[in-house]
Amino acid sequence: MPRKLLVTSALPYANGDIHLGHLVEYIQTDIWVRFQKMQGHEAHYVCADDTHGTAIMLRADKEGITPEALIDRVWHAHKRDFDGFHIGFDNYYSTHSEENRALASGIYKKLREAGLIEVRAIEQYFDPVKEMFLPDRFIKGSCPKCGAQDQYGDNCEVCGTTYSPTDLKDPYSVVSGAKPVRKRSDHYFFKLGSKAEFLRQWTQSGTLQPEAANKMAEWFAAGLSDWDISRDAPYFGFEIPDAPGKYFYVWLDAPVGYMASFRKYCADHDIDFDAWWQAGSNTELYHFIGKDILYFHALFWPAMLHAAGYRTPTRIFAHGFLTVNGQKMSKSRGTFITAQSYLDTGLNPEWLRYYFAAKLSDDMSDIDLNLEDFAARVNSDLVGKFVNIASRSAGFVSKRFSGKLAACPANPAIQALQDKAAEIAGYFDGREYSKAVREIMALADLANQYVNDEKPWEIAKQAGQEARLHEACTVALNLFRLLALYLKPVLPRLAQSVEGFLGIAPLAWSDSQRLLPAGHAIQPYSHLMTRVDMKQIEALVEANRQSLETPPAPARHAEAQVHQENKAVTEKTAPPPSPAATEGVISIDDFGKIDLRIARIANAEHVEGADKLLRLTLDLGALGTRQVFAGIKSAYAPEALVGRLTVMVANLAPRKMKFGMSEGMVLAASDPEGQTAGLFILSPDTGATPGMRVK
Ligand code: 2FM
Ligand code: ZN
Repeated sequence: MPRKLLVTSALPYANGDIHLGHLVEYIQTDIWVRFQKMQGHEAHYVCADDTHGTAIMLRADKEGITPEALIDRVWHAHKRDFDGFHIGFDNYYSTHSEENRALASGIYKKLREAGLIEVRAIEQYFDPVKEMFLPDRFIKGSCPKCGAQDQYGDNCEVCGTTYSPTDLKDPYSVVSGAKPVRKRSDHYFFKLGSKAEFLRQWTQSGTLQPEAANKMAEWFAAGLSDWDISRDAPYFGFEIPDAPGKYFYVWLDAPVGYMASFRKYCADHDIDFDAWWQAGSNTELYHFIGKDILYFHALFWPAMLHAAGYRTPTRIFAHGFLTVNGQKMSKSRGTFITAQSYLDTGLNPEWLRYYFAAKLSDDMSDIDLNLEDFAARVNSDLVGKFVNIASRSAGFVSKRFSGKLAACPANPAIQALQDKAAEIAGYFDGREYSKAVREIMALADLANQYVNDEKPWEIAKQAGQEARLHEACTVALNLFRLLALYLKPVLPRLAQSVEGFLGIAPLAWSDSQRLLPAGHAIQPYSHLMTRVDMKQIEALVEANRQSLETPPAPARHAEAQVHQENKAVTEKTAPPPSPAATEGVISIDDFGKIDLRIARIANAEHVEGADKLLRLTLDLGALGTRQVFAGIKSAYAPEALVGRLTVMVANLAPRKMKFGMSEGMVLAASDPEGQTAGLFILSPDTGATPGMRVK
């Protein structure tokens, strides 16, 4: 039965560029939606710019333009970046829309009618020059605990103490520099506490990942306080109905922006909006977010929806932050990489989609973009393993068989690929993309093994072997088609090129159980993907490097009530590590990058023409097999090694050697002084089995 799914990613603020940290989420969501569509489900993916708040108002002011002009410009920049990375939104909208004003006001009125809004006067800092109340992030002063100067109004970055802005010593307004004064005004509060029972149940009913549900339980234990949903003029946002001079706090109308974007989409596509949003709707609603904004999505948002009589989200999927080369993204190191710079430097967006997919799982752990590993992985997997299959077989079909395929015979490799369709689908559906990618690459290994065994380029030289050649190329291209199908959620453009080259309709998941028929005509092959060149990566880093003197960008959560880390972990003021502290020493994280595994030497043989090398076939259990050339010929006879367990580095970038690809390294001890002759490979203790991690 086709399902009906509405899917969202968090709305990016309209005051900054999209960077690779943001893209983790949009790519993660886009893969999921593309996969659901390939399954034949009715899935809609909507998003919008998050346009309201003090930060945007002040930024426009500084640029001498209206907030409307600023958000319009940023909308186009964001849209261009998302299109560039093939993020297939069905609608990309803005929270500054009439649909959003109407929906936010409607929800507010329902809350008020239900007695859930309370007005209370509170005292806050006010900038007497700018004549505005100051959000915490726009007040600085000296830390009340350690005395550090120029600390924000909510917490000290030197000693880590959290406090309220009125605790700061010598406070000043970041906007005008003036000394702020205390001033009282009425604020509107949403009485969250009265939804506590509903929220307790909702958050513990499988809507959240286990880690997120635990976090919620902690917040419940700490008690739910009322939520301040109003801000005083001047403010860029929606005025609260019947409350002149009071505006909805940006976080009130931001999630309503999901609904508003969908409402616009429904109007344009004749879809029944109410059927999707009414309480008890049989449609599904999924929000992909960063773990830093769980509080808003798992408490305020469902409470608002429930109180206003709407449906609540089916699931909320939170992901972790992005680090680059194992560290926070940093402007001085050039690793705070914008989406635009990536595209402008000429890097292929699908490389990044693939790399993120290879790293993403269903939990909230952070993921690392290691730039060298990125290049090695893309080159070895996508170019070396995937594209290579077509490039080695298509030419013969075009030249020798007028572009037509033979009947595809029964073949164990094809069978193996087809048999994996459901398992891979389960990984995509469960957001276990790294497992999907690993499985697909293991299948690519099988496909390559088939081509290596058949050697079409050799059959082609033999007389009277036309039928065999035709059949081998047909099998190879069917294998290639299946791999393209499995990779399609991750690599939509490449899949489209493959569909063009193979002359087939857009691939759906169920096509995995079909093969190309005899006589099917393909197009001439043209190269599908280039390799990553480290020079491009260096250029990318250079393009993003900013001198340490550059003032830091405004905090992304300038107005969030819950101040947590950024979605992409960004450097604030960290100086480069001092050489004395780091020379010759690595961190535990550095060590953790080395993937050491137990391997069984399944085969060992001499290599013709090599004095020092043995060719080893290493069995890594569930991780498959690897071919490694090891310089241990002087110490071991091949037959003495077969069956032994040893330790290998499993994530070393594959290296092309004169005799073939070496896909890792076996560890061996030797005496550098040469006092003790010989080489000694390592053996694990009894009980270790192939594939086990060595840490
Ligand atoms: O954290 C952010 O970047 C917010 N702009 C996300 C808003 S998501 C939704 F609630 F609108
Ligand atoms: Zn301090």
